[in-house]
Amino acid sequence: MKLIFATNNQHKVAELRSVVDRQLHIITLKEAGIDIDIPEPFETLEENAFAKANTIFEMTSTSCFSEDTGLEVLALNGEPGVKSARYGGDNRSFDANIEKLLINLADKPDKTAQFRTVISLIIEGEETQFEGICKGKIIETRKGNNGFGYDPIFIPDGSIKTFAEMDTNEKGQFSHRRKATDKLVAYLNKL
Ligand code: IMP
Repeated sequence: MKLIFATNNQHKVAELRSVVDRQLHIITLKEAGIDIDIPEPFETLEENAFAKANTIFEMTSTSCFSEDTGLEVLALNGEPGVKSARYGGDNRSFDANIEKLLINLADKPDKTAQFRTVISLIIEGEETQFEGICKGKIIETRKGNNGFGYDPIFIPDGSIKTFAEMDTNEKGQFSHRRKATDKLVAYLNKL
Protein backbone atom coordinates (compact mmCIF):
# COMPACT_ATOMS: atom_id res chain seq x y z
CA MET A 1 0.00 0.00 0.00
CA LYS A 2 1.20 3.51 -0.85
CA LEU A 3 0.82 6.28 1.73
CA ILE A 4 2.08 9.85 1.79
CA PHE A 5 3.79 10.68 5.09
CA ALA A 6 2.90 14.32 5.79
CA THR A 7 6.17 15.45 7.34
CA ASN A 8 9.32 17.32 6.37
CA ASN A 9 11.27 15.70 9.21
CA GLN A 10 13.70 13.24 7.59
CA HIS A 11 14.52 11.66 10.98
CA LYS A 12 10.88 10.65 11.37
CA VAL A 13 10.85 9.25 7.82
CA ALA A 14 13.98 7.17 8.49
CA GLU A 15 12.54 5.79 11.74
CA LEU A 16 9.24 4.89 10.09
CA ARG A 17 10.89 3.28 7.08
CA SER A 18 13.14 1.16 9.29
CA VAL A 19 9.98 -0.36 10.79
CA VAL A 20 7.59 -0.67 7.86
CA ASP A 21 9.68 -0.82 4.74
CA ARG A 22 8.43 -4.25 3.69
CA GLN A 23 4.75 -3.71 4.51
CA LEU A 24 4.21 -0.11 3.41
CA HIS A 25 5.39 2.12 0.60
CA ILE A 26 5.91 5.46 2.29
CA ILE A 27 6.11 8.51 0.03
CA THR A 28 7.62 11.65 1.51
CA LEU A 29 6.25 15.12 0.80
CA LYS A 30 9.36 15.83 -1.23
CA GLU A 31 8.84 12.68 -3.31
CA ALA A 32 5.20 13.70 -3.82
CA GLY A 33 6.43 17.08 -5.12
CA ILE A 34 4.88 18.98 -2.21
CA ASP A 35 6.92 21.80 -0.72
CA ILE A 36 5.03 23.28 2.22
CA ASP A 37 5.65 23.82 5.89
CA ILE A 38 2.43 22.51 7.45
CA PRO A 39 1.38 24.57 10.48
CA GLU A 40 0.80 22.98 13.91
CA PRO A 41 -1.39 25.65 15.54
CA PHE A 42 -3.44 23.57 17.99
CA GLU A 43 -3.25 22.78 21.72
CA THR A 44 -3.23 18.98 21.40
CA LEU A 45 -1.14 16.42 19.53
CA GLU A 46 -4.38 14.87 18.26
CA GLU A 47 -5.59 18.09 16.61
CA ASN A 48 -2.18 18.90 15.10
CA ALA A 49 -1.74 15.37 13.74
CA PHE A 50 -5.17 15.53 12.08
CA ALA A 51 -4.54 19.03 10.70
CA LYS A 52 -1.27 17.94 9.06
CA ALA A 53 -2.75 14.78 7.51
CA ASN A 54 -5.90 16.60 6.42
CA THR A 55 -3.92 19.40 4.72
CA ILE A 56 -2.17 16.83 2.54
CA PHE A 57 -5.30 14.77 1.93
CA GLU A 58 -7.15 17.87 0.72
CA MET A 59 -4.26 18.76 -1.59
CA THR A 60 -3.76 15.29 -3.06
CA SER A 61 -6.89 13.16 -2.44
CA THR A 62 -4.35 10.41 -1.69
CA SER A 63 -4.28 8.23 1.43
CA CYS A 64 -1.86 9.75 3.87
CA PHE A 65 -0.82 10.00 7.47
CA SER A 66 1.03 12.36 9.74
CA GLU A 67 2.27 12.23 13.27
CA ASP A 68 2.69 14.73 16.07
CA THR A 69 4.95 14.00 19.00
CA GLY A 70 5.53 15.69 22.33
CA LEU A 71 7.84 15.21 25.28
CA GLU A 72 5.69 15.30 28.44
CA VAL A 73 7.63 15.98 31.65
CA LEU A 74 5.77 15.11 34.85
CA ALA A 75 7.35 17.76 37.11
CA LEU A 76 6.55 20.43 34.48
CA ASN A 77 2.86 19.47 34.30
CA GLY A 78 3.29 17.83 30.90
CA GLU A 79 5.43 20.57 29.33
CA PRO A 80 6.81 21.00 26.72
CA GLY A 81 4.17 18.61 25.31
CA VAL A 82 2.50 19.91 22.19
CA LYS A 83 4.94 22.86 22.22
CA SER A 84 8.02 20.59 22.07
CA ALA A 85 9.25 21.83 18.68
CA ARG A 86 9.24 25.52 19.67
CA TYR A 87 9.91 25.28 23.41
CA GLY A 88 13.17 27.26 23.22
CA GLY A 89 11.95 29.75 20.59
CA ASP A 90 10.37 30.04 17.17
CA ASN A 91 13.49 28.94 15.28
CA ARG A 92 12.84 25.35 16.51
CA SER A 93 16.45 24.82 17.60
CA PHE A 94 16.98 21.39 19.19
CA ASP A 95 19.76 22.89 21.31
CA ALA A 96 17.68 25.80 22.60
CA ASN A 97 14.80 23.42 23.40
CA ILE A 98 17.05 21.16 25.46
CA GLU A 99 18.68 24.14 27.18
CA LYS A 100 15.33 25.55 28.30
CA LEU A 101 14.10 22.16 29.48
CA LEU A 102 17.23 21.54 31.55
CA ILE A 103 16.95 24.99 33.16
CA ASN A 104 13.28 24.50 34.02
CA LEU A 105 13.94 21.03 35.40
CA ALA A 106 17.13 21.87 37.33
CA ASP A 107 15.48 22.22 40.76
CA LYS A 108 13.01 19.36 40.30
CA PRO A 109 14.07 16.02 41.80
CA ASP A 110 11.56 14.04 39.72
CA LYS A 111 12.89 13.72 36.16
CA THR A 112 10.18 11.35 34.95
CA ALA A 113 9.03 12.00 31.37
CA GLN A 114 7.39 10.34 28.41
CA PHE A 115 7.31 10.79 24.67
CA ARG A 116 3.84 10.54 23.19
CA THR A 117 3.17 10.14 19.47
CA VAL A 118 -0.19 10.45 17.79
CA ILE A 119 -0.49 9.20 14.22
CA SER A 120 -3.43 10.42 12.13
CA LEU A 121 -4.27 8.22 9.14
CA ILE A 122 -6.70 9.37 6.47
CA ILE A 123 -8.04 6.86 3.97
CA GLU A 124 -10.80 7.94 1.59
CA GLY A 125 -11.55 10.90 3.86
CA GLU A 126 -11.93 8.78 7.02
CA GLU A 127 -9.55 9.47 9.90
CA THR A 128 -8.18 6.96 12.42
CA GLN A 129 -5.63 7.74 15.16
CA PHE A 130 -2.96 5.59 16.83
CA GLU A 131 -1.03 6.47 19.99
CA GLY A 132 2.42 5.35 21.14
CA ILE A 133 3.98 6.17 24.52
CA CYS A 134 7.56 5.67 25.70
CA LYS A 135 8.19 6.28 29.40
CA GLY A 136 11.59 7.23 30.74
CA LYS A 137 13.57 10.01 32.37
CA ILE A 138 15.49 13.18 31.56
CA ILE A 139 19.20 13.38 32.38
CA GLU A 140 21.05 16.59 33.17
CA THR A 141 23.84 16.33 30.58
CA ARG A 142 23.55 15.48 26.91
CA LYS A 143 24.82 12.05 25.83
CA GLY A 144 25.18 10.69 22.28
CA ASN A 145 25.07 12.14 18.78
CA ASN A 146 22.38 10.11 17.01
CA GLY A 147 18.72 10.90 16.50
CA PHE A 148 17.20 14.34 16.89
CA GLY A 149 15.29 16.66 19.19
CA TYR A 150 15.46 15.71 22.85
CA ASP A 151 17.14 12.33 22.18
CA PRO A 152 20.45 13.28 23.92
CA ILE A 153 18.73 13.83 27.29
CA PHE A 154 16.11 11.06 27.29
CA ILE A 155 16.71 7.54 28.65
CA PRO A 156 13.80 5.14 28.06
CA ASP A 157 12.79 2.77 30.86
CA GLY A 158 14.63 -0.53 30.42
CA SER A 159 17.83 1.04 29.05
CA ILE A 160 20.89 2.80 30.41
CA LYS A 161 21.49 4.66 27.14
CA THR A 162 19.92 7.85 25.84
CA PHE A 163 18.06 7.63 22.53
CA ALA A 164 20.98 9.58 21.03
CA GLU A 165 23.36 6.76 21.99
CA MET A 166 21.26 4.23 20.06
CA ASP A 167 21.01 3.54 16.35
CA THR A 168 17.58 3.68 14.68
CA ASN A 169 16.90 -0.03 15.23
CA GLU A 170 17.72 0.07 18.91
CA LYS A 171 15.64 3.23 19.43
CA GLY A 172 12.83 1.36 17.71
CA GLN A 173 12.83 -1.29 20.46
CA PHE A 174 11.59 1.36 22.90
CA SER A 175 10.20 4.26 20.95
CA HIS A 176 6.82 5.98 21.07
CA ARG A 177 6.93 6.35 17.28
CA ARG A 178 7.54 2.62 16.81
CA LYS A 179 4.63 1.71 19.07
CA ALA A 180 2.22 4.01 17.23
CA THR A 181 3.54 2.74 13.88
CA ASP A 182 3.05 -0.90 14.88
CA LYS A 183 -0.61 -0.10 15.61
CA LEU A 184 -0.92 1.66 12.23
CA VAL A 185 0.51 -1.37 10.42
CA ALA A 186 -1.71 -3.82 12.33
CA TYR A 187 -4.74 -1.70 11.38
CA LEU A 188 -3.76 -1.54 7.69
CA ASN A 189 -3.13 -5.29 7.61
CA LYS A 190 -6.73 -5.90 8.70
CA LEU A 191 -8.26 -3.75 5.93
P1 IMP B 1 6.70 17.43 15.91
O1 IMP B 1 5.93 16.17 16.04
O2 IMP B 1 7.43 17.53 14.62
O3 IMP B 1 5.88 18.65 16.23
O4 IMP B 1 7.85 17.31 16.98
C1 IMP B 1 7.96 18.12 18.09
C2 IMP B 1 9.34 18.13 18.62
O5 IMP B 1 9.45 17.05 19.52
C3 IMP B 1 10.46 17.96 17.63
O6 IMP B 1 10.92 19.16 17.13
C4 IMP B 1 11.54 17.34 18.48
O7 IMP B 1 12.23 18.35 19.15
C5 IMP B 1 10.74 16.55 19.48
N1 IMP B 1 10.66 15.14 19.12
C6 IMP B 1 9.72 14.50 18.40
N2 IMP B 1 10.00 13.19 18.31
C7 IMP B 1 11.16 13.02 18.98
C8 IMP B 1 11.97 11.87 19.21
O8 IMP B 1 11.70 10.75 18.78
N3 IMP B 1 13.08 12.09 19.94
C9 IMP B 1 13.42 13.31 20.44
N4 IMP B 1 12.71 14.40 20.23
C10 IMP B 1 11.58 14.26 19.50
